[in-house]
Amino acid sequence: MSEQMSPADRAKYAAAHRAAAFVEDGMRVGLGTGSTAAWLVRSLGQRQRDEGLRFRAVPTSQRTAEQAREEGIALVTLEEAGWLDLTIDGADEFDAEFNLIKGGGGALLREKIVAAASERMIVIADIGKEVGRLGAFPLPVEVIPFGWQATQRLIEETLEAADVLGREVRPRLAGGQPFVTDEGNYILDLHLGRIGQPRRLAMVLNQIPGVVENGLFVDICDMVIAGYADGRVELR
Ligand code: 5RP
Repeated sequence: MSEQMSPADRAKYAAAHRAAAFVEDGMRVGLGTGSTAAWLVRSLGQRQRDEGLRFRAVPTSQRTAEQAREEGIALVTLEEAGWLDLTIDGADEFDAEFNLIKGGGGALLREKIVAAASERMIVIADIGKEVGRLGAFPLPVEVIPFGWQATQRLIEETLEAADVLGREVRPRLAGGQPFVTDEGNYILDLHLGRIGQPRRLAMVLNQIPGVVENGLFVDICDMVIAGYADGRVELR
């Protein structure tokens, strides 16, 4: 950890470094995506070099796969792994019930599949990601490119009936073009402000034709490791 790191990065590093200690020899581990998960991959690479730790990992994005390869971490597909002992991933928001918003980095689909195929999911986050109620962070929804505008309209109609504050739906762009996920899909970001019933909203969104998956993680996370800028961590 360097002195030049921002307070948020110091907090992310602290959480990720602590979570790396949960990985044991021989485990099959899901590796998340994002800046916090990147600290985790570094810490795990370090543990391999320092302690001879050996485990196999399923990455949740091409980005994470590349970084893990550079760290010398053995990668397998989810099919090869069969089932995972543990997944460690970041989050954009978490609440007291461990409901999450994920997908700020656009990897929510693989992240949800990998976490759901794991015995245990640990979320690593700087304490600033904790919220009383989810929804200030725009909720990412992964949609099929075919007819995505129609899917957007259906989502907007659905939001009118849901317990949410805002209803603005914006296609995510990258360089003026639609952002394309690792699975070749698009992302719509839902600016909701407040999500009253995350479980219900997650179910309703996934029933809309064209929606592949949404970034609400309900009943998936088992533990949150929250990091502080001074290096402290809280295990919840
Ligand atoms: C990527 C994610 C990330 O875990 C989430 O966006 C948090 O990212 P970061 O650790 O960079 O704050 O869900 O799809």
